[in-house]
Order: sequence, then structure tokens, then C-alpha cells
Amino acid sequence: MRDIALAWRADGLTVGLVPTMGALHAGHMSLVEAACRENERVVVSIFVNPIQFGAGEDLGRYPRSPERDLAMLREAGVDAIYKPSVADMYPPGAGTRVNVHGIADSLEGVARPGHFEGVATVVAKLFAAALPDRAYFGQKDAQQLAVVKRLAADLDLGVEIRACPTVREADGLALSSRNAYLDAAERQAAVCLSRALRLASEAYRRGERDLGRLRAILRNTIEAEPLASLDYAEVVDPATFTRGGSLAVLAVRIGKTRLIDNHDLKLTYPG
Ligand code: PAF
Repeated sequence: MRDIALAWRADGLTVGLVPTMGALHAGHMSLVEAACRENERVVVSIFVNPIQFGAGEDLGRYPRSPERDLAMLREAGVDAIYKPSVADMYPPGAGTRVNVHGIADSLEGVARPGHFEGVATVVAKLFAAALPDRAYFGQKDAQQLAVVKRLAADLDLGVEIRACPTVREADGLALSSRNAYLDAAERQAAVCLSRALRLASEAYRRGERDLGRLRAILRNTIEAEPLASLDYAEVVDPATFTRGGSLAVLAVRIGKTRLIDNHDLKLTYPG
């Protein structure tokens, strides 16, 4: 991949990178569309990164749809699909890991120890392979987005991190490859995440600024759903992920499936 990227850059072409783990859906494709609009060449990486999954997480059963992914990316007109193997990315003896301290130490970082180390390491390697001017990440994974922005700034990687809005189903459920795990009843129950964010957003618009009360709206809405179990509900600063600010973030288990979602309460809730 790096040779192709070097040749593009030697020709003065701008390069956009969309890192993915495959099982592509309309959320990914919105990143691809933004990358195609803003760059002369676009690379999409597909790599289910083992080091960002903890023991007992869903690495083994993570959804995979390689043929469908390729068809969608060809149709979108991307210039290169980068599909490294695990051995390409982590050959024997590879021992370097990238840690973004601070942002990565709360919420998802606590719930999924080692997750952001795995994300930061693979993203740094993908940047080294594709040499992008811009890289595209979804706002749905808001803490990942903040970690990657910090990584790019702290290591002077010269990559502009572009954030793209969360894509939602008609009933509000944020698109995620993990939605494929939900059965019919769980799929209905999963709408409690977006309902909680909408209710908190409406309260914020009416003037509610008390973090405890905003958190209670999020928590009570999730707890009203019998199939849901709350992991965390917080209101944080979107850049630092410290408590305060206006980004409402949620992690919720629906049956065995763990879903995350977020919304900046300063913005009108979509729909
Ligand atoms: O968001 C994802 O799909 C992954 O965390 C990423 C950014 C592709 C790194 O493996």
C-alpha cells in the first residue's frame, strides 16, 4: 500500500483514508463519500484488528462480509482497498504499542482495557501505510475520534482527522456492525439509546444544565427498557472526555450485545 501512496503523493495527489473493520453499512459509506468528495485518491482499509478486542469480546464472531464490502467499495469508486493480514500488521517480534493517555483512560477505556491502545496502534500503522492527507472517522465512536485526534496532533502525523455525523435508522438507532447481533426483540429495545439521547437533548434545550439531572434522564430512560442494562451514562467534554461539557455518551448492553451512542446536547436532536 505504501508504494502506491508514495506514487500518488509524488504526483501531488491528495489522499483520503477510511479505516474500517469491514461489515460495511451506510455509516461507513458516508465516510467513503466524504473522502471521495474531498480527496483525489481514496483508500479504504479493511482489517479486523485483534489487539483492540479484549479477552471474552467478540473478535471471533465479529461480522464479516468480504464480497459485499468489495462490491460496495467498487460501486463507490474508491481507488484502493487495503486488506492487510494479521501477520502483515503484527509480524513476530512486533512489540510497539501506542498509548494516548488521558482521553483513553475513562469510560470506554475503563470498560474495555487495552481497547484504545489497540486502536491507536493500528491507526498509526494504517497512516504509515496509506500516507493520508485526511482520515475519516464516525462521530458514533466519539471517544475513539477524540483519541485519534489527540494521536495525530501529539505525534505530528500531518493527517487531518475528519469527523462525520452518525448515520441512524429511521427509528433513531445508530448504525453499527454490531446491530447484526440483535434479535427482533432486542432490535426494538435498542432504540432506548437514541430515545435517551433525544430526551436529554430536549431537556438541555429547555435550559437544563445540571449534569446530575441530565445523567438521570439518560439513566432512567435506559433503565425503563427491560432488555437493556446500563454500562455508563455521562455528559463529557468531547475533546478531553472529562466530565462536564455537552456530549452525552452512553454504553448499554442489549442482551449480550454492547452498544454505544452519543449526542452533543447543544445540537438539536435529528429527526
Ligand atoms: O472504528 C473502527 O472500525 C475501528 O476501531 C478502526 C478505526 C478501523 C480501527 O481498527
